[in-house]
Amino acid sequence: MADYDVIVIGGGPGGYVCAIRCAQLGLKTACVEGRETLGGTCLNVGCIPSKALLHASHSLHEAEHNFEKMGLNAGKVKVDWEKMIAYKDDVIGQNTKGIEFLFKKNKVDWLKGWGSIPAAGKVQVGDEVHTAKNIVIATGSESASLPGVDVDEKIVVTSTGALELPKIPKKMVVIGAGVIGLEMGSVYARLGAEVTVVEFLDNITPGMDAEVARSFQKLLKKQGLDFILGAAVQNVETTKTKAKVNYKLRKDDSEHSLDADVVLVATGRKPYTDGLGLEALGVAMEQRGQVKIDAHWATNVKGIYAIGDAVVGPMLAHKAEDEGMAVAEVLAGKHGHVNYDVIPGVIYTAPEVASVGKTEEQLKAEGRAYKVGKFSFMGNGRAKAVFQGDGFVKLIVDAATDRVLGCHIIGPAAGDMIHEICVAMEFGASAQDIALTCHAHPTFSEAVREAALACGDGAIHA
Ligand code: FAD
Ligand code: NAI
Repeated sequence: MADYDVIVIGGGPGGYVCAIRCAQLGLKTACVEGRETLGGTCLNVGCIPSKALLHASHSLHEAEHNFEKMGLNAGKVKVDWEKMIAYKDDVIGQNTKGIEFLFKKNKVDWLKGWGSIPAAGKVQVGDEVHTAKNIVIATGSESASLPGVDVDEKIVVTSTGALELPKIPKKMVVIGAGVIGLEMGSVYARLGAEVTVVEFLDNITPGMDAEVARSFQKLLKKQGLDFILGAAVQNVETTKTKAKVNYKLRKDDSEHSLDADVVLVATGRKPYTDGLGLEALGVAMEQRGQVKIDAHWATNVKGIYAIGDAVVGPMLAHKAEDEGMAVAEVLAGKHGHVNYDVIPGVIYTAPEVASVGKTEEQLKAEGRAYKVGKFSFMGNGRAKAVFQGDGFVKLIVDAATDRVLGCHIIGPAAGDMIHEICVAMEFGASAQDIALTCHAHPTFSEAVREAALACGDGAIHA
């Protein structure tokens, strides 16, 4: 008899959710995690700590820019950086301990240490070999490196170093105008750093609806972030306390440089499968280093599955969680399902940017006929009351059927509002269905309804 029905390797959002669901479905389950705490990248050095710093720095921004307008005279707000970092660490601790509690509650064994797979059905952790009917690889991802740029996590940092800098830098250069670069760049810009974002492409946030991306860049510029687009970083030179980022502009090959106290390298992440022994096992891999899986998250080796950042698809915590639940259902003999067409993406800046489904650019490329309904937050009473009138909701529907194909929101609470659209898309709803649904007043969500109205006879408050 095997020691376990399932051993999950990796205790991030993919792995821990998978382990809990397996246990809930009656499978004897263990989860291997080599970090000191559960929760993976997301809880320890990703989603959660970055959101804590975004919240703290946004609060400072509100105090500095909006308090007085509301008759709140707080004087000059002083930043105690050490305390801010301690607050962030406390938030991490509460969340990671929460997962440990959930493991105990659901009777998931945490096998502490780094796991490898010496053979199908076996997982080695330290000197011990445990047997399992099925193994799920959920080992996540790590920051991608950039040629000519050596990360020391002090002056040249990845997101991990950027979450625990010893002090707020005066000048920060961010390489990469993606999600990490813009979230962490916003944090330090609000805290007073001069932030310059250097991006290889000619636009920020590749893949985002172009109209939203342009508007997003303008708003970030207003908040003090500088952008150098179309720039290929050649290398970064460092001294003990400073860095110099050398780059070439792609349009004319001219050479330039920027000085910085801290350089954040945020040019993407790559799957992490080191030390698992996958090559010896003959587990097939994708060209870009992900574990190759079929539609049921199974690898080519019987009894070995893979999910989350370690497989293809968006590197998002909720995508990993959904796959974790779905593979658990499969292993319990049920039908696991993930709708990859309805996975929202959110950038937690202020304003937030959220999207789901198709962009206009994708629909044009597919040659599909569509209609767009747009509504600006300037016409939303609640948004104006809280100084958040910047941004808009853009709803895209099929021209013939009115069925919702995608939605892109830049504005307050965009990351929460997008789920109305996710549910609508799951149910195959039309813009008219949304327009006919009563939305409470005054809420930001009314802007979604107005965008839906704009797909038909017109928005009321536009
Ligand atoms: P991970 O969370 O990376 O977890 C894998 C775990 O496996 C790790 O704890 C690792 O220690 C462990 N492990 C690896 N190999 C072994 C082994 N051999 N033995 C034992 N343990 C092993 N996503 C969002 O959706 N929203 C966000 O706001 C967001 N913010 C982010 C901010 C930052 C700064 C970063 C870096 C990422 C962010 N992400 C966000 C992405 C998100 O963190 C990942 O998509 C998510 O963590 C992937 O989950 P996972 O379970 O696949 O892998
Ligand atoms: P990213 O893929 O979002 O952005 C990387 C950016 O760097 C791109 O704009 C790319 O064009 C640029 N780039 C690549 N090479 C470059 C070079 N040599 N010079 C200059 N620019 C270059 O990756 P990022 O921001 O590192 O994030 C990694 C992953 O983490 C993302 O896939 C994201 O899904 C996840 N994440 C999600 C968050 C969220 O959901 N809110 C927050 C943070 C991270």
